[in-house]
Amino acid sequence: MTEHTVLPPIGLGTFRLQEQVVIDSVLSALALGYRHIDTATFYENEAAVGKAIRASGVPREEIFVTTKIWWDQLDGDGPIRSLEGSLERLGLTQVDLALIHWPSPNGEVPMADYLDGLGRARAQGLTRHIGVSNFTIAQIDEALALPVGKYLVTNQVEVQPYLANRKLVEHCQRRGLQVTGYMPLAVGKVMKDPVLKAIGERHGASAAQVALAWVVSRGIAVIPASTNPQHQQSNLEALELTLNAEDIAQIDALDAGERIANPPFAPHWDQ
Ligand SMILES: NC(=O)c1ccc[n+]([C@@H]2O[C@H](COP(=O)([O-])OP(=O)(O)OC[C@H]3O[C@@H](n4cnc5c(N)ncnc54)[C@H](OP(=O)(O)O)[C@@H]3O)[C@@H](O)[C@H]2O)c1
Repeated sequence: MTEHTVLPPIGLGTFRLQEQVVIDSVLSALALGYRHIDTATFYENEAAVGKAIRASGVPREEIFVTTKIWWDQLDGDGPIRSLEGSLERLGLTQVDLALIHWPSPNGEVPMADYLDGLGRARAQGLTRHIGVSNFTIAQIDEALALPVGKYLVTNQVEVQPYLANRKLVEHCQRRGLQVTGYMPLAVGKVMKDPVLKAIGERHGASAAQVALAWVVSRGIAVIPASTNPQHQQSNLEALELTLNAEDIAQIDALDAGERIANPPFAPHWDQ
């Protein structure tokens, strides 16, 4: 079991969504009952996300807001300055979670330095919680050995049926970190999968719901993106879907180590 379960089990991802599209998506998600929104400075949509949060009428304290610090902002007070900018754009005084979006490429900025900066941002009250994203097993161990390690609550990593990421996920969970799974729908690929569709038919569910239920069954928080209120609703309902052992075995068999998010500055991934 994970020590920390601070993140709500499902949130709305906002990567690629801009301006009125992201405003409408966040508004409909909050109206449907989502209480967890995932943004990042890199997504260039924080101002629109903040506008939607304020316009929603949902009390601020009910919404879990995550933002992320890009890898060119890791040096010195970079993490603090980055978060101050995020808060200004979001129109908030504090986020619920601030993540290091990617580890410093080739370790250019020492991890002890940028996690110290992130820890200072937390101590200053800019964020309630802190965490990391796209960290490998070795990087998680290095991070947890630092004094600031005790404050880390999550590693946000790609988890979808074609990339189960099992070793990393289980390592994080063993070490008390909640895992957040991004791109849980493989950016659309799961919707066309015959195995997932067939499992869905047996449960009166969609392939997307099957993929989300499989991620959630592994104790991982999911953050699917959707601009479509019907998809948002159905993704929320996926939390109610219980898969049986045979379904899970069939989905586990889809794992092919197929990674979608793999930019040139990515770390040396665990196999
Ligand atoms: N930390 C990182 O480095 C990192 C990297 C990538 C992503 N992320 C986060 O993870 C979030 C999710 O990843 P993602 O947005 O790339 O991909 P995703 O959530 O796997 O897929 C999003 C796509 O699925 C469609 N979709 C959603 N629900 C559906 C449903 N029920 N039925 C049919 N289609 C559906 C959406 O279209 P519609 O709009 O038409 O519903 C959209 O095209 C991001 O938004 C971001 O917040 C983090």
